[in-house]
Amino acid sequence: MSKENFPIESFKAIQTPFYYYDMELLDETLSIIKEETAKYGFTEHYAIKANANPTLLKKIASYGFGADCVSGGEVKAALEAGFDPAKIVFAGVGKADWEIETALDGGIFCFNVESVPEAEIINSIAGAKGVKASVEIRVNPNVDAHTHAKITTGLSENKFGINLSQLPQVIEKIDNLENLELIGLHFHIGSQITDLKVFEALCSKVNEITGEFAASGRMFKNLNFGGGLGIDYQDPDGGRIPDFKGYFKVFDTCVKRNSDVKLHFELGRAVVAQCGTLISKVLYIKEGEVKKFAILDAGFTELIRPAMYDAYHSIENITSSDTEEVYDVVGPICESSDVFAKDRKLGKAKRGDLFALRSAGAYGEVMASQYNLRQLPKAYFSNNLK
Ligand code: LLP
Repeated sequence: MSKENFPIESFKAIQTPFYYYDMELLDETLSIIKEETAKYGFTEHYAIKANANPTLLKKIASYGFGADCVSGGEVKAALEAGFDPAKIVFAGVGKADWEIETALDGGIFCFNVESVPEAEIINSIAGAKGVKASVEIRVNPNVDAHTHAKITTGLSENKFGINLSQLPQVIEKIDNLENLELIGLHFHIGSQITDLKVFEALCSKVNEITGEFAASGRMFKNLNFGGGLGIDYQDPDGGRIPDFKGYFKVFDTCVKRNSDVKLHFELGRAVVAQCGTLISKVLYIKEGEVKKFAILDAGFTELIRPAMYDAYHSIENITSSDTEEVYDVVGPICESSDVFAKDRKLGKAKRGDLFALRSAGAYGEVMASQYNLRQLPKAYFSNNLK
C-alpha cells in the first residue's frame, strides 16, 4: 500500500491511534506462501505471537495454515480461530501445567520440548489423561542468526532448546518416558533474518545432526525449522512481499532427507508485518533548542519495536504536504525511550496531520500495553472500515 492508497478520508473519522490492516496484501501474501509450500509439500505453522488479532487469525486459518503457539492463551486463540489442532505446535521454555493440559485437551500435533524436566511433566500429565503426547526436541544448533541480540535464540548462551552436546542423553531420557512419542527435531535461531545464507548454514548444521543420528539408526520424521525470515522495514512498498520463493527453495535444496521426512516452518513476521500500519495523529510540533519534535498520540505502548530493539520503521506524513522537514518523531509516554525515529525527513507536519508507521503488522498490536493507563487501540481492516 503506497501512501497515496491509504483511505485517508475514512481515517479522518476514526479515533487515533489505531492499527490498519491491508487485507488484500495479506491475501496476496498468504496465497504466495501457500503456493510455495505446496510446491515442496512443506507445512507452515503461522507463529501466532507475531499478531493474534482474531480477524487475522481467522483469515490465516482459512488458508489451511497450521499454528505455532508459545502459551496456553495462544493455543486457545488458535483453536478458536479455526486452526486445525492436528497442525498446532507448542513451543516455549516455560510451559505451565494448565497450558500443557489445554494443549493435550485440544489434541495438538506436538510439543516442542525445551528441557528434560519439561518432558517429564508433559509425560506425567499425559499419563494422567491416558494419552500419548507427541514431542519434538527443540535443539539449540549454535548457529549465529546475525540479527539483533534481543531476537537471537540459537546460540549456546541463549535459554532456548537443548545444546548439541546434551542431545543424545536427552533423546535417551525421552525414549524412556512411556507417554511421550519423539517425532522430530525443532530449530529456531532468531528473527528478522534477511540473509538467506544464514538459513543455508542452519540446513548444513541440521544435515550434520540428522546424519550422525541416521548413522546409528535413528531417523526423525519431522524437521521444524522455526521462523525468522525478515522483511524490508526500509522500503515497505518495494518489499511488500518477502522472498518466500527464495526462502523455501533454500530448504528444499539444502536439507538432505528421505521422501518420508516432513519439513515444517513457523513464520510470523514475514506473514503479517507489511499488511499492518499504525495510524497516529500529530498532537504538537515542538521546537526544541536543537531539534524539532513531532509529538504523536501513539507511543511505545502501541509500537514498542523502536524503543525495545532500536528498530527502524518507515514513517510517512499521509495528510500533507509539499515541503519536507526533519523531525524526531516521539510519543506521549513519560519515558525518554518513547521515540519512533530520530532526525527523520518527513512531509512538513502540523497539528492534526496523520502519520503512518509502516510494517507494524508483526509485533505491533500484540505487544501493545496499557502503561501510563493508556487505552488499547482498535484495529480496522481495509475490507471493512467500520
Ligand atoms: N518460532 C519460534 C519458536 C519463535 O520463538 C519465533 C519468534 C517464531 C517462530 C517466529 O519468528 P518470526 O518468523 O516472526 O521471525 N518481538 C520481536 C520478535 C521476537 C520473535 C520471537 N520468536 C520483534 O519485534 O522483532
